[in-house]
Amino acid sequence: MPNQKTPPNIIAIDGPAASGKSTLGRRLADALAYLFFDTGVMYRAVTWLALQRGLDVRDESAVAALAEETSIDVRPPSQEDGRACDVIVNEDDITWNIRRPEVDANVSVVAAYPGVRTALTAQQRRIGLRGRVVMVGRDIGTVVLPEADLKIYLDASAEKRARRRYEEIIARGEKADYDEILQKVIQRDRIDSTRAVAPLRPAEDAIILDSDKLDADQVFERVKELCE
Ligand code: CDP
Repeated sequence: MPNQKTPPNIIAIDGPAASGKSTLGRRLADALAYLFFDTGVMYRAVTWLALQRGLDVRDESAVAALAEETSIDVRPPSQEDGRACDVIVNEDDITWNIRRPEVDANVSVVAAYPGVRTALTAQQRRIGLRGRVVMVGRDIGTVVLPEADLKIYLDASAEKRARRRYEEIIARGEKADYDEILQKVIQRDRIDSTRAVAPLRPAEDAIILDSDKLDADQVFERVKELCE
């Protein structure tokens, strides 16, 4: 169509834990027929593997070596159980393992290691540069794909985010304690935003949306407008 603009080729969505980035990213990728890539699953996969192998997650060089030697495969979902993608390592489907509380509790420590970030950022950048992608994380607009055509930073209060995470866990039929989740969200934000390499922060050219004030549909509509 003559006057129709093409949507942005590379879309970056960053923000703190449980701000609704994945929900937004997934819907947007579906609407545009783009690849949805949630980079958090890669940090979670390395954390899960380290715990599985009995590594001390404080052993930075051992964890970084693990990140370098591991190939993490993120594929389109093979099952309709609420997953956004399959996460496969060494032929094992670890899609749900990486959502466990022990991964939540350790992932920010693992993600702060420069060696881990170098290994995973390179893989993410390669995938992102193919284009037609919605990539979600903490440092996509600032470090992984600074050339992204549209950058969204999705924020919300810690309380709202903890409530959302609590409801997700309950919906999966698991037990959850709201206060404990809130404390963990706050702790993870603190580590993510104060680390030396690629800290959580909006890119200078990011559009900041507050999901305290907008529900999931409103956030989606706003971003769709921005794409048009
Ligand atoms: O879904 P949720 O917001 O809980 O977190 P996630 O996106 O799965 O990311 C888990 C953790 O990985 C974050 O708390 C960060 O420590 C780290 N991460 C990162 O450092 N950089 C990214 N691009 C994505 C995630």
